[in-house]
Amino acid sequence: MARGEDGRPLYVPGALPGERVAVAVEGRRGEGWGGRLVDILAPSPDRVRPPCPHFGACGGCVLQHLAPEAYRDWKHGLLVEALARAGFADAALSPLIPAYLGTRRRAEFALRPPVAGFHARASGVVVDVPGCLVLAPPLLALAERLREPALGCLRPRAEAQVNLTETGLDLVLRLQREPEQAEKETLARFAEAADLARLSLDLSDGPVPLVVHRTPRLTLGGVEVEPPPGAFLQATAEGERAIVAAVLEALADLPEDARVADLYAGIGTFTLPLAKRFRVMAVEGDEAAAAALVTAVRRAGLASRITVERRDLSLRPLAGADLAQLDAVVLDPPREGAKVQAKALAAAPSSLRRLVFVSCNPAALARDSRILGAGGWRAVRGVPIDQFLWAPHLESIVVFVR
Ligand SMILES: C[S@@+](CC[C@H](N)C(=O)[O-])C[C@H]1O[C@@H](n2cnc3c(N)ncnc32)[C@H](O)[C@@H]1O
Repeated sequence: MARGEDGRPLYVPGALPGERVAVAVEGRRGEGWGGRLVDILAPSPDRVRPPCPHFGACGGCVLQHLAPEAYRDWKHGLLVEALARAGFADAALSPLIPAYLGTRRRAEFALRPPVAGFHARASGVVVDVPGCLVLAPPLLALAERLREPALGCLRPRAEAQVNLTETGLDLVLRLQREPEQAEKETLARFAEAADLARLSLDLSDGPVPLVVHRTPRLTLGGVEVEPPPGAFLQATAEGERAIVAAVLEALADLPEDARVADLYAGIGTFTLPLAKRFRVMAVEGDEAAAAALVTAVRRAGLASRITVERRDLSLRPLAGADLAQLDAVVLDPPREGAKVQAKALAAAPSSLRRLVFVSCNPAALARDSRILGAGGWRAVRGVPIDQFLWAPHLESIVVFVR
């Protein structure tokens, strides 16, 4: 980021810190200006040749032209900066846990037949990405198949949300119209040929399975869970393991059977590992995710250790007496963060002394950490995890105490 003549931030995608570049200022962006990189007059010593053939055309990975060490420093710096902005410059941070090539197991493809890929940067254009370096190979193979001309019901546009589960690919196609019977038969043949575990269709009122060859399954904390179509999963299995380990580590000194709330619990990624030591109150807003967790808990005979509540935490945050019975709270909100819930935690009874904040968005984390700080919470430790290789997102685990 540079500064415009008026001192406001000037964002220039593609430029690196310390470079001298020629820029065409294109208009307002947020509180500053957006610029287009016209020429690199003096390149950064950290500028490298981007490894992916789609770099520049695809909007997915924006930092491949930064040398690996500088890239890791920059990613680590996102958490340093977020906590400093919230007043916690002295929190102890672990080194960045790196991401690996070819491990992304959850993706959203834009389908504009015969193109099936990702959006170009800040544009409605969609580009094929057959050489993508971040996707797990089964997702790449699926994108290739989604280019098949026979899939007429994807025209003129559709979206594909795919999760790689332990029993195979779980695909949701978001379509503009109800497919005709013959088109459904073509889709069923496609599901068979692509060896999908499940194919669901979403006509804007939620995904409905069309074909189930194998029930999608994930093992979380040793418990089998059947994720609903389109379920949230951590973006990589490696990232999930690192996040779960950091969450458990943050609570390692609590006594057995301590009471822990897992807010924004999803299908139980943290709830189920936490239940090995603690009594867990899981809260999740999505009906299908909460139902999948209830079923998994019942089947595993864990109902005496885990309660599951479906609740919208933006409308009804966990507060007051609910928080008073807890020893710790883990929260993992969506990208927009947890402003309302953070305010309730800031005002929590003083018996609650530990929070573990999991975030994929440093900007929202900074805002919510400031809210917690105003309530007397102090960020003491942070673990940055690079789940999103070459993207400006960062997964962070921050431990708050008071
Ligand atoms: C980042 S995901 C985390 C899920 C889970 N912790 C995991 O690691 O798989 C955020 C979760 O928050 C849920 N969610 C989003 N907004 C919510 C709200 N207002 N109240 C409760 N849950 C919400 C989503 O359905 C999603 O499951």
